[in-house]
Amino acid sequence: MAKPRVLSGIQPTGELHLGNYLGAIRNWVEIQQQYDSFLFMADLHAITVPHDPTKLAANTYQVAAMYLACGIDLNHATIFVQSHIPAHSELAWLFSCITPLNWLQDMVQFKEKAVKQGENVGTGLLTYPVLQAADILLYEPDKVPVGEDQKQHLELTRDIAARLNYLFGKPESPVLKLPEPMIRAEGARVMSLADGTKKMSKSDPSDLSRINLLDPPDQIQYKIKRCKTDSIRGLTFDDPERPECNNLLSLYMLLSNQTKAAVTAECQDMGWGQFKPLLTDTMIAALKPIQDRYHEIMAEPGYLESVLRQGREKAEAIANPTLAKVKAALGYSVPV
Ligand code: TYM
Repeated sequence: MAKPRVLSGIQPTGELHLGNYLGAIRNWVEIQQQYDSFLFMADLHAITVPHDPTKLAANTYQVAAMYLACGIDLNHATIFVQSHIPAHSELAWLFSCITPLNWLQDMVQFKEKAVKQGENVGTGLLTYPVLQAADILLYEPDKVPVGEDQKQHLELTRDIAARLNYLFGKPESPVLKLPEPMIRAEGARVMSLADGTKKMSKSDPSDLSRINLLDPPDQIQYKIKRCKTDSIRGLTFDDPERPECNNLLSLYMLLSNQTKAAVTAECQDMGWGQFKPLLTDTMIAALKPIQDRYHEIMAEPGYLESVLRQGREKAEAIANPTLAKVKAALGYSVPV
């Protein structure tokens, strides 16, 4: 029997950080034996905010290398570039014609990012979730493993699929399959090192707010030394008054592969002066094998090209028939 399928992606904008790893990539690695995984670099999404054209292609390759360095196994997974598959853009157009404008105006990420861009906010930032729905629905996945911040986009994806099925399908033979979100409780929301109430993000102007996966040991040490804490002695999870404490303990728990109970017992009487070096060492040790592997992959000439060429072929073999099915349902003629 065919394995169930998962699909997910990351925008190649800036360096990947611990939020991307713990909220997404690490979970992809953990489940990859049970699923047929389709993982891509969302480079069409990467231009919804101002971008540097001299860096886009290199960033895209770096993200692919990072997937592999974190343990994605090509025996189970297909890695591809979104812009290499024209079906993504084409299906996004078809979806945009059946998506009510107010569905998009209600998206939290749009509201947050649009405020930052002021007058110059691009149309792509508004229609971004429609492209994301196309990314997902083209591959008919069973599950979409993401961090908590993508939940609303996945709900919209299901709404778009349901609307298209309602308008152009038959109840007994829906055109599109509705996927389920897969959001793990642990790591789904890694918070900023500068403010435990804000998520860790590539777009935060301060690099001190995040740990990038390629940060060298001295930088990790510096960032942890500088990160926001509080003046209370003893460390606890889940205290709403201590969001930074909860975040740093959670990072320690996830990166040291321990249970919450074990970390609670170990850290409950610690002060920050004792905990910070422990967290620093754990983080450096957890990232070292990833960084080593990343540099090996980047040094191998032609390797990533071949991975992405094969990825494109496998992805297209699934995406193109889905696009054809949607076009047929909408009544398009087939070119002769
Ligand atoms: P992006 O590039 O912002 O983030 C990639 C993945 O990392 C997760 N993530 C986090 N998880 C926990 N804590 C954090 N602080 C944190 N920051 C990011 C995200 O939830 C995500 O899983 N729109 C998507 C990219 C995309 C996509 C798709 C994803 C485009 N098409 C189709 C899934 C399916 C995005 O901007 O993710």
